Amino acid sequence: MRKPVIAGNWKMYKTIAEAVDFIEKIKPVAAKAEHCEVVAAPPFTALAAAAAAAKGSQVKISAQNCHWDKEGAHTGDISTVMLCDAGCTHVIIGHSERRHDCGETDEQINQKVKAALAAGLTPIVCVGETLAERERGETEKILERQFTAGLAGLTAADFSRIMIAYEPVWAIGTGRTATPEMAAEAHRYLRGLARQVFGEAAADGIRILYGGSVKPDNVGGLMAQNEIDGALVGGASLKVESFTALVNYPRG
Ligand code: PGA
Repeated sequence: MRKPVIAGNWKMYKTIAEAVDFIEKIKPVAAKAEHCEVVAAPPFTALAAAAAAAKGSQVKISAQNCHWDKEGAHTGDISTVMLCDAGCTHVIIGHSERRHDCGETDEQINQKVKAALAAGLTPIVCVGETLAERERGETEKILERQFTAGLAGLTAADFSRIMIAYEPVWAIGTGRTATPEMAAEAHRYLRGLARQVFGEAAADGIRILYGGSVKPDNVGGLMAQNEIDGALVGGASLKVESFTALVNYPRG
């Protein structure tokens, strides 16, 4: 069975003090939530303090990005070694905001995934089509390219250590969620790719999270889909009350 994951992507929100306060408040929520794993992704500046606050609890700390080199002349970048040092266990890679704002390529994402795996981190690899791509009927083509290029060179054992987040770009921060059926269709396609490339067991085991305007009032419908193994949540992960409601999503 695939254990669901509820992950909060805080993006460029929260000071160190706000992050620590949030972690303290969700620790008891996560402790009671045996049905899912709970991950929070603070900004770089708050990672070490958030990880210290989360230590020994059920809350896992994720970074939102990393560089692929262990160290080097890369002004403004952070390595996977540094993320481990700060207490992270996960790292979001290839978020659409980084693909679009920073021009990240599938090849760079691939290097980052490999670096994260080598460092012992769990990569949460994001894929997803834009509205224009969906309207042109290119969703599968885009997902295939991002999956194949982003995960090139991984073994089935490597693949068993990652998570995928399907985040249609048109649903991120727009209030426009994919319907549970639309999301499940994309997840099914991604799982099919996993089967082709990494085999049956890998496809059965891979956790595919949905992201894009997930809220307490739509999380139940999404999570009711067999294909959907969790949620990567931006806006609605920033408040303790709504994140708590997401972690305690309605279960049948
Ligand atoms: P959103 O962001 O929940 O605010 O749409 C999701 C994400 O970007 O991961």
